[in-house]
Amino acid sequence: MKQAKCAVLVSGGGTNLQALIDAGQAGRLPHVKFSGVISSRPDAYALERGKKAGIPVFVAERKGHTQAEFEAELLSCLRQCQADMIILAGFMSILSEDFVRRYPRRILNVHPALLPAFGGKGFYGLHVHEAALARGVKVTGATVHYVNEIADGGEIILQKAVDVLPGDTPEILQRRVMEQAEWLLLPQAAELAAQEILQQ
Ligand code: GAR
Repeated sequence: MKQAKCAVLVSGGGTNLQALIDAGQAGRLPHVKFSGVISSRPDAYALERGKKAGIPVFVAERKGHTQAEFEAELLSCLRQCQADMIILAGFMSILSEDFVRRYPRRILNVHPALLPAFGGKGFYGLHVHEAALARGVKVTGATVHYVNEIADGGEIILQKAVDVLPGDTPEILQRRVMEQAEWLLLPQAAELAAQEILQQ
C-alpha cells in the first residue's frame, strides 16, 4: 500500500509524537509512514521517543540562528526525510510565510484550544491553558488544522471539546486536553491528510 512520508516537527516532551507512533504501531495509520522526527531543540525528549521507535531523528536548532538559517536547515532535514507531509506536534517555532507556502495543505498543527479561541502569537503550550482559565471558559479543547501564513489561522480539520473543571490548574487542564482530545485527534487527522495527499 502506498504511504505518505511524514516528518514530525517537535520541540519538547513529544507526547503527541508518541500518540502518533502508538497509533501507527496499532495499525491505525495505514497511509502514513513516519520518515523523520525533527527537533528545534537538541535536548527535546521527543528525540528519544523517535529513536526508540526506529525513526530517523534530526536537529534543526532554532536558538542562535536567524529565521532564514533555521528554515534552511529544516528544509535540508525535510529533503532527507523525503517528506510528503509535515506534522507540527508541540513545535514551538513560528514558520515564515515563504516556508509555509512551499507546503500548501501539507502541514498540520495540533493546538491545545478550540480555535479561533486562544490562538495566535504568544498562545502556545501552558500559556494557552493559563489564558483559558483566566478567561473563565467552562469548555476548551483541541484543534488540528492545516498551517497557512496566519498563525493558528489555517483550515480546521478536527476539533474536540473538553470540560474545564473546578480547581483546574494549567497543568491539570493541559493533561486533560491532551488525554481527551489531542492524542486522539492528531492521529485521526494525520490519516485523513495522508489519504488526501495520496489521491493527488
Ligand atoms: C501540546 O499541548 C501541543 O498542543 C502544544 O504544546 C504541547 C506539546 O506537548 N502546542 C502548541 O501550543 C503549539 N502552538 P508534547 O511535546 O508533549 O506533544
